Amino acid sequence: MQKRHVLKGVLPLALALTVPQAFAQAAPFKIGFILPMTGQSASTGRQIEAAAKLYMAQNGATVAGRKIELIIKDDAGVADSTRRLAQELVVNDKVDVLAGFGLTPLAMATAPIATQAKVPMVVTAAATSVITTASPYIVRTSFTLPQAAVAMGEWAGKNKIKKVVTLVTDYAPGIDAEKFFKSQFQLNGGEIVAEIRSPLKSPDFAPFLQKVRDAKPDAVFVFLPSGQGAAFMKQFAERGLDKSGIKLIGTGDITDDDQLNDMGDVALGVVTAQHYSASHNSPMNKKFVQSFEAANKFRPNFMAVAGYDGMRVIYKALEATKGKGGGDDLLAAMKGQVFESPRGPVMIDAQTRDVVHDIYIRKVERVGGQLWNQEFDVQKAVKDPGKLGAK
Ligand code: PHB
Repeated sequence: MQKRHVLKGVLPLALALTVPQAFAQAAPFKIGFILPMTGQSASTGRQIEAAAKLYMAQNGATVAGRKIELIIKDDAGVADSTRRLAQELVVNDKVDVLAGFGLTPLAMATAPIATQAKVPMVVTAAATSVITTASPYIVRTSFTLPQAAVAMGEWAGKNKIKKVVTLVTDYAPGIDAEKFFKSQFQLNGGEIVAEIRSPLKSPDFAPFLQKVRDAKPDAVFVFLPSGQGAAFMKQFAERGLDKSGIKLIGTGDITDDDQLNDMGDVALGVVTAQHYSASHNSPMNKKFVQSFEAANKFRPNFMAVAGYDGMRVIYKALEATKGKGGGDDLLAAMKGQVFESPRGPVMIDAQTRDVVHDIYIRKVERVGGQLWNQEFDVQKAVKDPGKLGAK
């Protein structure tokens, strides 16, 4: 009796040990997204979550034998929460990759955790140049403010704009936008007549718009983080600036596709520089926008495309490691990826781990009864100017 019992126990174990690796139940591959799902930047979270889910629906939920598990955590845009959630995701959930980061301070707060845990951190929103230097484990699929600001500075200088007031949100990406716009605009013969900064939290733009009006520039160059564009446009119109002859230009964050259609006539003619427009004319983007709208009933913006591409970078890295994963191997496989995105051609620079992509100059126009950022010029394969010469 006893012998049979022992055998019963041992045999399955022995069998299990000889089962080839491929038949073993592989652990799920966990991607921990930390996003602002509530608060002032909630649209960023909503866009990136929707895009990540769309990518999975289109490309399958299993990669190289590993089931992909998406974990979404809401940090409400508060850095202390991001840090705590990142810690929990690494220690308790044992995520294979961290992703998301809706604002620069949230990415910066997490960088030391990624370094210590050797977990790749895919930044799909935050856009200050310096972020990728905060940890060797960071890879970025969003964009950098200097990429857009330099393109805008050049365009403005070459298009009869002589005097500009800059108006940016008073934190790192705003400072990047202000600095890089200014130097490129000045190189092209322009003059900055005033530099204004508005607070990140619940800004009232009225006093700043009054200063813009008083300075009587040819144009005002604006950067605001995604989510603030509509409120700004409303006040711009209420204060009559749209009729003042002062042209509105900026980075594409102010004519964010998430809100653009609700902005009304005030947005018409606004010229911005950015890497993504929902109206980008390519078969891949048409399919992306159609599928995204069908699944979500709202238009994808530049945050969505970064979330979608972030998933692509993670999927291909996992594939390259043949499903094994592992922080360093995943990271190595993320570096240097080249692919077509709904935004156009994209590369992850192997040296800087930052995104290289085309920057488009766009103008808001009404097409088919809706407002769109219509691309009319392009700078190809733009590397982050914030890192050039500073390697
Ligand atoms: C950032 O905080 O880095 C950030 C957020 C939203 C944007 C751009 C930059 O639209």
